[in-house]
Amino acid sequence: MPPHPPAGQIPVWDRFVRLFHWGVVALVATAFLSEDAKSLHIAAGYGVLALVAARLVWGFVGTRHARFADFVTRPRTILAYLRDLRGGHARRYLGHNPAGGAMVVLLLALLLGTAGTGWLSETDRFFGDDLVSGIHAALANLLMVAIGLHVAGVLVSSLLHGENLVRAMITGRKPASVARQPEHEDRTAAGPRLHPR
Ligand code: HEM
Ligand code: HEM
Repeated sequence: MPPHPPAGQIPVWDRFVRLFHWGVVALVATAFLSEDAKSLHIAAGYGVLALVAARLVWGFVGTRHARFADFVTRPRTILAYLRDLRGGHARRYLGHNPAGGAMVVLLLALLLGTAGTGWLSETDRFFGDDLVSGIHAALANLLMVAIGLHVAGVLVSSLLHGENLVRAMITGRKPASVARQPEHEDRTAAGPRLHPR
């Protein structure tokens, strides 16, 4: 992230969040495609475990929109957001919106659960245990469903507000305002600038 982003652009996703995201995408894809190539599968799975562990720490000490406090909200807030979304007037957030934040928590939990049970299935204690392998496979399937919903959510949100959220996860920056910013100004847009790290 350059020290001075272009005018009208706000740094939102720091370098760690972006590396984490695309790193996880690459490793999870590798894990799914390498079920039969065990050492590659296991290496990719351990990589996921390491990235998620680092992300959990970053959720407490990272930059503004990377912190859990910025996007983990009460169920009531998530439901209200989903109602607004259905009515076509969900407000724009610079960081994760309340539903997106809930999905991030679910994705992190499923990543941890899938890679964790994969690791357990390789320990002396649980090697060859059908239950652990079964849970590993079931969590991997749930993860796949959650990823589908996550990508759908990203597309819906991008279309609704006329902004490219995928590009933002690459460059780290979002426009301060967008064409379709229904009803409310984004209260975070006018807030203090994030200091790039
Ligand atoms: C293996 C598949 C994927 C996983 C496990 C995954 C997981 C995640 C996680 C955990 C976050 C939160 C980032 C953070 O705060 O650290 C996130 C955000 C995001 N992901 Fe993914 N992701 C996946 C695939 C994708 C794909 C294919 C796309 C592109 C279409 C995508 C686009 C995004 C975007 C745009 C955000 C930011 C959302 C926002 O603006 O609130 N993800 N993803
Ligand atoms: C997010 C990371 C991971 C994903 C998405 C993933 C996904 C999968 C999937 C889809 C299968 C096939 C299940 C079936 O039989 O239908 C599988 C099998 C397996 N995985 Fe993973 N895995 C991950 C991490 C790991 C890790 C970290 C390890 C070990 C250290 C591991 C070890 C295994 C083993 C040994 C099998 C085959 C035997 C069995 O069914 O238990 N996986 N994994």
